[in-house]
Amino acid sequence: MKKAVVIGATSAIGQELVKLLCTKNQLYLTGRDSAKLLSVVEDARVRGGNLVEYRAVDFSSEEGVDSLEAWLREMGGFSNAFILPGVLSNEDATFSEWHNDLKVNYLSPCYFSRLLCDLLSEEGGALVVVGSVAGDRGRQSNGLYGSQKSALETYLLALRHKMHGRSPRVSVAVAKPGFVNSPMTAGMPKSFLFSEPEKIAKGLLKRAEKRRSGSFYLPSWWWWILLVVRWLPDFVFLRTKL
Ligand SMILES: NC(=O)c1ccc[n+]([C@@H]2O[C@H](COP(=O)([O-])OP(=O)(O)OC[C@H]3O[C@@H](n4cnc5c(N)ncnc54)[C@H](OP(=O)(O)O)[C@@H]3O)[C@@H](O)[C@H]2O)c1
Repeated sequence: MKKAVVIGATSAIGQELVKLLCTKNQLYLTGRDSAKLLSVVEDARVRGGNLVEYRAVDFSSEEGVDSLEAWLREMGGFSNAFILPGVLSNEDATFSEWHNDLKVNYLSPCYFSRLLCDLLSEEGGALVVVGSVAGDRGRQSNGLYGSQKSALETYLLALRHKMHGRSPRVSVAVAKPGFVNSPMTAGMPKSFLFSEPEKIAKGLLKRAEKRRSGSFYLPSWWWWILLVVRWLPDFVFLRTKL
């Protein structure tokens, strides 16, 4: 049976991904909240996933990151790897709060992306990391969150470049979802632009199965929206409340 690792399995999107993967893969799951992680594991087992291992980890702790690294190195040989953790940064937070956000949104995803590329199966494998459309243009409403996602995308494109020369059977992709109905957006007014986490999870899995590298929007029609947002001239853009 193939091995798949889901870092951030407790996220709304991660939980849906686990449902899609659990019957066909030996699963390695992580989350920060151990009670939530245990319920994701139990749900996977009820659905027929007999081979599920898990580890709770908080990315703001260096010991947590070290122990996750040791655990992943011990397992190794993954066919598919997904990285999902993320927090919506408060624009007015303190330095130490921003530092913690940086570890969750940028440093840990980059670090584990580099590690997992080395731990993918010798027959090849796919790494899919979740970024965001928020990284495409700096906007006043989510400057720090967007800039971390933008930096994450840049790092992953560099990693894709490196793997292309070193190990062409490994694909490195970064998903850029638009608005998703999840605890992260619980306080936002909902609109037709919101997608369900299940749809995003299906998009992540499809990309991994195709072994296609590079950035992609989820759903794909966000490409058109971001085309407009990116090209909006400053004399219009700077007057918006985006
Ligand atoms: N919702 C959206 O509109 C949207 C749009 C574009 C991109 N995204 C991205 O999609 C991904 C999944 O988010 P979601 O919408 O499914 O939100 P979510 O349900 O709020 O998930 C957030 C995830 O981040 C984990 N996390 C938070 N702080 C952590 C820490 N210190 N250490 C380790 N893990 C930590 C949470 O773990 P616990 O639950 O175990 O605490 C959870 O797994 C994120 O990368 C997010 O940036 C979301």
